Amino acid sequence: PFILSIAGGGSTYTPGIVKSLMVRLTDFPIAEIRLYDIDSQRQDVIAPVVEKVIRDHSDNIKFTVTDDPETAFNGAHFVFAQMRVGQYAMREQDEKIPLRHGVVGQETCGPGGLAYGLRTILPMVELIDFVEKYSDNAWIVNYSNPAAIVAEGVRRLRPNAKVLNICDMPVAAMRNMAAVLGVDRHDLDVDYFGLNHFGWFSSIRVKGEEKLPQLREHIAKFGLLTEDAAQTDPQHSDPSWVKTWRNIQPLMDAFPEYIPNPYLQYYLMANDIVEHQDPEYTRANEVMDGREKRLFEAARVYKETGILPDAFHVGVHGAFIVDVACSLAFDLRQRHLVIVENKGAITGLPFDAMVEVPAYITAHGPEPIRIGDIPRFHQALLEQQLASEQLLVEATLEGSYEKALQAFTLNKTVPSVVHAKKILDDMIEENKAYWPEL
Ligand code: G6P
Ligand code: MN
Repeated sequence: PFILSIAGGGSTYTPGIVKSLMVRLTDFPIAEIRLYDIDSQRQDVIAPVVEKVIRDHSDNIKFTVTDDPETAFNGAHFVFAQMRVGQYAMREQDEKIPLRHGVVGQETCGPGGLAYGLRTILPMVELIDFVEKYSDNAWIVNYSNPAAIVAEGVRRLRPNAKVLNICDMPVAAMRNMAAVLGVDRHDLDVDYFGLNHFGWFSSIRVKGEEKLPQLREHIAKFGLLTEDAAQTDPQHSDPSWVKTWRNIQPLMDAFPEYIPNPYLQYYLMANDIVEHQDPEYTRANEVMDGREKRLFEAARVYKETGILPDAFHVGVHGAFIVDVACSLAFDLRQRHLVIVENKGAITGLPFDAMVEVPAYITAHGPEPIRIGDIPRFHQALLEQQLASEQLLVEATLEGSYEKALQAFTLNKTVPSVVHAKKILDDMIEENKAYWPEL
């Protein structure tokens, strides 16, 4: 049985991930779960809820809560990482500062994502170093955002680290596609290419039969959503997520062969997004007033009454990271969409770009499939986004204001260098406690 540590234990996602682990104990046996967070106050509120989830399934699993890296990672076999540097207070800034200048305000797309990247790269590397120092050669399965930038930062600074960067967005899209087709998401066999939060499904097969045209028809009418999928996932049935899934209809015309990742709307429909965003109340506010409040309230009720209200969601987010860990642990060679070094998988992109493609997940890591050539249009979009992300990483490592400004300017959500500079300068002010000096 494995010792598994969750870095970012105080996240409101933790109970859902642990619940996913508990329903899979026969596939992925666990001796101990450790929660690790630098914010022990927050983690101490979440921990009793997590312990209850564990005890509902097993009396034998040891449970440890700590803010000490040695205690967290000593002898660990797996680490699930989900840090949020600066927490929701800084997510709120990431979203609101660009909006003040009429630019998309989003957690990972646009200037918000770049700012979040500048905060996260170095703490992520610090976490990797702790894990390497104390663990039993553990795999780090990493959800920490902004995943594209984090992956590139880690590749540059710790190229040999055992880190697999993942994202649940394509899986959530697959869950919705499966609902449209009336099958289980595990029955879908997909081709996909791009960067994290910036890519396209190019084939969706069920038992060898191509379903992409049928799905495109559905999306053109209703977006990538069904009642069913919305009901099984309260997070994604929040109004803003419903809009995100519906709003991709206009994108479809630009990509007649494919199904775009919904996040592309932030880059390709930026005006429309800004028009409908409330600069005073963004997704960070929704999450703080919704998901966060519900779970903290449930933790309070549980502490007082011993009864845990139904307050957290177990969905694809938790299930996916457990799928990936199982495949790594037991060399299952399951095919999953993950973030890997390109190494020729997408012919037209640099060899060392961190791309998101299907890979067979073996005990030694991901073996990506070969995508080959991609259309000129998609390639150009990817090159621009890649340049923005890579310049941001270089800005972080070199402390370069010029490169940060170039990264912001190249980002397709940003209309001009003037916007880029104003946003960057405001962000430098707000991120003083987190960013390296530029
Ligand atoms: C998807 C993305 C994540 C992102 C999350 C935000 O799951 O893949 O990278 O963090 O959405 O969701 P939220 O409900 O916090 O806005
Ligand atoms: Mn993601």
